[in-house]
Formats: sequence, structure tokens, C-alpha cells
Amino acid sequence: MNQENALGYEELKAALITEYENQYGTKPLWFVAAPARVNLIGEHIDYCDGFVLPLAIDRHVMMAASPNGTDEALFTSLMLPDQPAVIPLDERPKIGSPSWANIIRGVFYGFYQKDIWPIPGFDTLVHSNVPLGAGLSSSAALGVAAATMIESVSGLQIQPKNKGLLCQAAEHQFAGVPCGIMDQFASIFGKKDHMVLIDCRSEEAQAVPFTDDSVTVIIANTCVAHELSDGSYANRRKQTEIALSVLGKDSWREVTMDDLLAKQSAMSEQVFRKARHVVTEIDRTQQAALALSRGETETVGELMAASHRSLRDDFEVSCEELDIMVQAAWDIGPAGGVLGSRMTGGGFGGSTVTLARKDDAQQIIATMASVYQEKTGIEPEIFATTAVDGAHAVDA
Ligand code: ADP
Ligand code: GAL
Repeated sequence: MNQENALGYEELKAALITEYENQYGTKPLWFVAAPARVNLIGEHIDYCDGFVLPLAIDRHVMMAASPNGTDEALFTSLMLPDQPAVIPLDERPKIGSPSWANIIRGVFYGFYQKDIWPIPGFDTLVHSNVPLGAGLSSSAALGVAAATMIESVSGLQIQPKNKGLLCQAAEHQFAGVPCGIMDQFASIFGKKDHMVLIDCRSEEAQAVPFTDDSVTVIIANTCVAHELSDGSYANRRKQTEIALSVLGKDSWREVTMDDLLAKQSAMSEQVFRKARHVVTEIDRTQQAALALSRGETETVGELMAASHRSLRDDFEVSCEELDIMVQAAWDIGPAGGVLGSRMTGGGFGGSTVTLARKDDAQQIIATMASVYQEKTGIEPEIFATTAVDGAHAVDA
């Protein structure tokens, strides 16, 4: 999907409802939408008790559904129409096939564990304008949308924080991804015209105004996803755990740079550099949230550049394509309207995030696309986005 031409919220919703009526001959009773996210700063520290600063973006996973009078839930994704998923609701949910729906099975399992069970059967159609595997958390949006739909169907609301933790557990247990809480919390706590500052130790989310009308956020999907991504994510997480145990601390929030330097010789060079990223990134994210609230975009830009260098050199989760895309933005620089740029999300491909002057956005997008394509031979997907509200149910 070319994201520049991606359907907007209302068009996507209308297309989903029309398709629902075509397939089921009736209007859906329930409709939910859950946004994807982009992270401005605070990378690979959500599983280290750090701070992260994502925003929910105007790309959504949407679901429309109605009761079907059975004890099965049916999910059909318009992205994968030949892979409908039938999920039995009269037994403990387990991993199954097709695999795309495992995150949904995991969410059902969370409701099962909370004793919100059994849930009456329903037929669901899924539609989305979130690019898959682009580091924008389509999978988290899918899980949060499913949880929001199950709330509608069961008529029971879960506390937003518990809903986020339930969806994170589904990723861990049913999709095998040992992720932090950032993606699910961003999709749930997102707020129009705000970033979401998440304290991953207390698991609290706070909205930070992002109301400067002259500034926008540009997402550049490199359209590459290197294969090693799965194992490498778990491996990075493991290295941070090793470092913390060498440091003898309970939480990264208690670790200073002096503590780390004092223990440098007790850890491998690899582990030390991972730890250095965590300590410096936690600091950068707090500084960025403050600078953003004061409108100090120049400072935010410098912090974003430092974050990228740290992810590239110390945490080692960037890749050639991400570095080329970020460099293309840095080369445009403040004179051309680029305030800051870095890789975003898990890394090893996926997207970059760029803070830019709105008036220059179209020119910046065109320049980044042509530089990237010239250097890699790959056509990227680059689009400006806005901060939107988190997951919600509305009348179909
Ligand atoms: P990301 O979350 O960064 O987009 P992942 O590889 O972690 O990338 O998750 C993408 C996976 O999530 C897809 O391969 C698919 O299994 C699932 N997914 C997300 N959105 C949808 C959708 N609309 N329809 C079907 N599956 C989806
Ligand atoms: C994502 C993961 C998040 C976070 C991020 C890196 O893929 O789902 O929890 O760790 O990588 O900041």
C-alpha cells in the first residue's frame, strides 16, 4: 500500500462497513478503531523501566462486528481475506492457525484469565491502513482493537492500564515477542494533538501537548525488514538484563552513568554499550519531553540525533537503510525545515521519525524519498502524520 494514498479514517471506516454489509447482509452492531504509533524518542527502554515518548498516529486497525448466535468468534482481515480465523469461545483460548490471529487469541486469553468468560460469538471484519512490519506497531493496534471489540461485545470495560498490560501479555505469550508496554499504551492512551509520555516503571501515561501548528511529524518507511529482527530483539533485552544484574540494581532508574562506569570492567564491551544506551536514552527522553513542553524544538532535534547515534553505535539496532534515511533528513537540516530525525521502533529496518516544519514537509518528503531511492534502489513510503486519540468504540 502506498501510504501517501492510504485511506483516511472516515474512508477506511466507510469501506469496512460497506464490505461488512456485502458479506453479512446486515449493518455491524459494533465498530472499534485502534491507532498505530510512532515513537519520537525513548527507544528500547520501555522494557528497562525507562520513559518513552510516542504518539498515536492517524493510521488505524478497525473492526466491525455483530453477534452470530454461536460460541465462536470469526475474524476476517481484508488484508488477508483468504485466511479467516475461527476462535472457539467455549474453551481456554490457545495458539492456532492462521498465525496472524494469534495476537487476538492471546487477547481472548487475557479476558478468560480475568473471568470475563464465556463471551458470546460474533462475526468480525478487520480493515487497516497501517503498513505491516514497518515498525509502527500494526500488531499492537490489532491486539488493542480486539480488546476494545471484546469490551463492546461483553459490555464490560477494563481499566485502560490493565487493558494495555493484557495486550502486552498477549504479544509475549501468543506471538512470542518479549516487548515492553510502549506500543499498547500508545494505542490506548493516545490523545489528539498530544504525545504520550509513558513512565514504564510506574506504568503511567501522561499526555504532553504537541500543539505547535507549524511543526509536523514525518514517518519514512524504509520498506525493509531484516530477518534477524525477531531473535535480535530478545537478545538486546537479555543484554540489558545481564547489565542490570552486574550493576546489582533493581531498576535502571536507579543507575547513574557513574554507577555504570564503576562496573564497566565487570561486563563485556557489548553489554557495556547496551547499558550505556539505556542510561543515556532515559535521560534524553526526559529532557525531550521537557523541551517539547517548552517549545524548544532545536533541543528536541539534537536529542533525537543523539538517540539515533546511540541506537546505531551502542545498541546496534539500526541498519544501512535506516541510517541512509536518517542521514537524508539530517542533510536537509534546520535550514530546509528538518528539526530532528532518528530511527523509530524496534529497528533492523522499519521506519524513521522526523520532526519538521509543516510548511516544508512536502519538499522534505520528496527529497528524502529521492535520496533514499537513489542510494538503495528501494522505493520508500513517506508521509506526514498527526497525533490522534487512542482506541475507541463508536456507533457503526
Ligand atoms: P509491526 O507491528 O511493526 O507492524 P510485526 O511484524 O510485529 O510488525 O506485526 C505485523 C503482523 O501483525 C502481521 O504480519 C500480521 O500477522 C499482524 N497484523 C497486523 N495488522 C493486521 C491486519 N490488519 N490484518 C491481519 N494481520 C495483521
Ligand atoms: C517494539 C516493541 C516495543 C519497544 C520498541 C523499541 O518493537 O514492541 O515494546 O521495545 O520495539 O523501543
